[in-house]
Amino acid sequence: QRSCHRRLLCALTATAAGVRRGVWSSASRLQSCMSAWVIDQYGTNEVLKFSEEITAPTASSPTEVMIRVHAASLNPLDVSMRGGYGAKLLKLRRDPMCVMANDSEFPLILGRDVSGVVVDCGSQVTHFVPGDEVWAAVPPWKQGSLAEFVTLTDYEVSHKPKSLSHTEAASIPYVANTALSALVNAGGLYRDGASNKRVLIIGGSGGVGTFSVQLLKAWGAHVTVTCSQNAEGLVRGLGADEVVDYTAGDATEQLKEMEKFDLILDGVGGETEQWAMGMLKPWSGAKYITLVTPLLLNTDSMGLLQGSMISSGVFYRWGFYAPDGPALDEVSKLVDAGKILPVVEAQFAFDQVPQAFQKLEEGHARGKTVVMVAEEDDRESEELVQNGRTEAAESERHVHQTAEQN
Ligand SMILES: NC(=O)c1ccc[n+]([C@@H]2O[C@H](COP(=O)([O-])OP(=O)(O)OC[C@H]3O[C@@H](n4cnc5c(N)ncnc54)[C@H](OP(=O)(O)O)[C@@H]3O)[C@@H](O)[C@H]2O)c1
Repeated sequence: QRSCHRRLLCALTATAAGVRRGVWSSASRLQSCMSAWVIDQYGTNEVLKFSEEITAPTASSPTEVMIRVHAASLNPLDVSMRGGYGAKLLKLRRDPMCVMANDSEFPLILGRDVSGVVVDCGSQVTHFVPGDEVWAAVPPWKQGSLAEFVTLTDYEVSHKPKSLSHTEAASIPYVANTALSALVNAGGLYRDGASNKRVLIIGGSGGVGTFSVQLLKAWGAHVTVTCSQNAEGLVRGLGADEVVDYTAGDATEQLKEMEKFDLILDGVGGETEQWAMGMLKPWSGAKYITLVTPLLLNTDSMGLLQGSMISSGVFYRWGFYAPDGPALDEVSKLVDAGKILPVVEAQFAFDQVPQAFQKLEEGHARGKTVVMVAEEDDRESEELVQNGRTEAAESERHVHQTAEQN
């Protein structure tokens, strides 16, 4: 039998200098406890609790990879999950046969993005070794990344882009896996087949939008974005060809004047569904894909619903996040080639996780909110905060410089 504890001890010896708060120093707690932000019940921000007594997730199955988290980022799903959204479906996904001795999901760790370093691998993992710098999106049914360690299956993990810091890298995986799944699986787009496509992104200034604009431009598509007036500079800097300010009156009037679209990616939902289908090219396989799906909500109350239909020769589909390490490998190449930039709006130290949630809940995101989990990133964060700088300003400056050069 493989001694995962012995291997873990070896792996950790190499990284012990970087381990925080002496968690691994006590023989009685060796490799068993870690620090994490957890919830023990669903609710508002008050339910978030910091604990140093959370069981560390070891690589206990042959295909698992244990990662020391350097940085995590938040998504709207974290706020929703904190409130209990999707609890029923996610519980079913964690334990489909209802056989687990402990049927409680608590203590639950939120956080869907990780950038960090591999500390241990299961016996069948061939693509990673301890010490590798990796990034990944953590599936919502797994324990999250607002913790010192997270353990994932190898196919969910990818080598992080070399050109990015952990803080920057943590801003990308979940929105990238969502955008790729929506555009490729639901939308039928692909890298070499997008150059003659007209795409509309409804809600271009947030996490998914700022990533999608860049991906679609890297693929050669023509991209139109709806966003607030004060986000126009950002999305144009990221490559958007046309921008419609939805706060300046009826956006549909401007959109109706434009040539119709091959694909619409909707990150706003609600009343947009009423008019968006009419903006698609009829009888040409055009698709409307909404990320604002009622799946988790409906499953909480009544079971699963169909998320696909066709009308007037255009398709209506739901788009979903899907775990996919190989897809992140492709994104990594685009990042290292300078075609996709991280858009980090705000960053918080590990002891400021409630403030990070508060920032997210205030809305009006311009890219991503990142949490620095490991010490070196914490120090970087403090310096940045002290200097009154944020990576958003850095990113935006970089984006504008890149745009000017092109
Ligand atoms: N189905 C899935 O698997 C999945 C996965 C990821 C995300 N999502 C969902 O997709 C949506 C977008 O995610 P995200 O991470 O990009 O969210 P986000 O970072 O919070 O960004 C939302 C953006 O939309 C803008 N916005 C709000 N109302 C708008 C409107 N009427 N028209 C145009 N822009 C508008 C906001 O800025 P202003 O308010 O300042 O305009 C903000 O920049 C969220 O609802 C999220 O829950 C679903």
